[in-house]
Amino acid sequence: VELIEDKHSLRRALAAEREAGRLVGLVPTMGALHAGHLSLVDAATAGCDIVAVTIFVNPLQFGDPSDLVAYPRNLERDLELCAQRGVGVVFAPTPAEMYPRGDSSTVVEPGPLASRYEGVSRPGHFAGVATIVTKLFSLAGPCRAYFGEKDFQQLAIVRRMAEDLDLPVEVMGCPIVREADGLAMSSRNGRLSPDEWTAATVLSRSLETGKALITDKGERSGGGVGSAMLDMLACAALVRPDYAVVADPISLEPVGTITGEVRLLVAADVGPVRLIDNMAAAP
Ligand code: PAF
Repeated sequence: VELIEDKHSLRRALAAEREAGRLVGLVPTMGALHAGHLSLVDAATAGCDIVAVTIFVNPLQFGDPSDLVAYPRNLERDLELCAQRGVGVVFAPTPAEMYPRGDSSTVVEPGPLASRYEGVSRPGHFAGVATIVTKLFSLAGPCRAYFGEKDFQQLAIVRRMAEDLDLPVEVMGCPIVREADGLAMSSRNGRLSPDEWTAATVLSRSLETGKALITDKGERSGGGVGSAMLDMLACAALVRPDYAVVADPISLEPVGTITGEVRLLVAADVGPVRLIDNMAAAP
């Protein structure tokens, strides 16, 4: 695996791949790679000729400086995992490389898709994501880019942004990878104590309950399903729920009456860690 740390070398390397007729698969990450990220790498490997993984903990998308400091980093191990997986290029720039002026005066504002859910709890987060993803797309050039459905709102925003701005990138969504106990894989899970980890499994259980209400019990009220999920989260020790909603899978608007496929979205703080999860459901 070739480690690239500067923007211009990345641009040159991926342009050369395209000139040689190869389709580039881009996997943007913040590192601390786990099986969820590796499933994105596998999807990119299956669909493209060369895979580039980007590893950058983007300060612009962290509102809380202590969250940025606490975010796990392990470049050595990430490189090893990428090498084992046959990744062609790892782009791991410093903050100064990505933001030479210390910040970005120009910011990509994602609009209404970013105004709900994570957007409320983490003001500015999605503008930070949209800005760094635009920069990465600009450096990578025409490619396919792989994102996990775990961050479902992020995926919807990035898809819409690529469409709105005519970015030459095909955005691919990949299914959530779960631990055996149902907990959605996340780099943040490593900060959970054993008790918090057990408590955190209520997120996926609440989603399963919501899904069963819709699919097996014929519940058609989005508000009803949301309340049932929120009650489950609220009853769990160590868990402080934020939201539990039934949303349209494209617009992310809350759904009143469920008539087709919906996305169930939940978020909660468990101990010191903010966790999100989601699941598709249909009548
Ligand atoms: O999902 C992430 O890891 C980040 O939000 C992303 C897309 C790499 C942008 O920093």
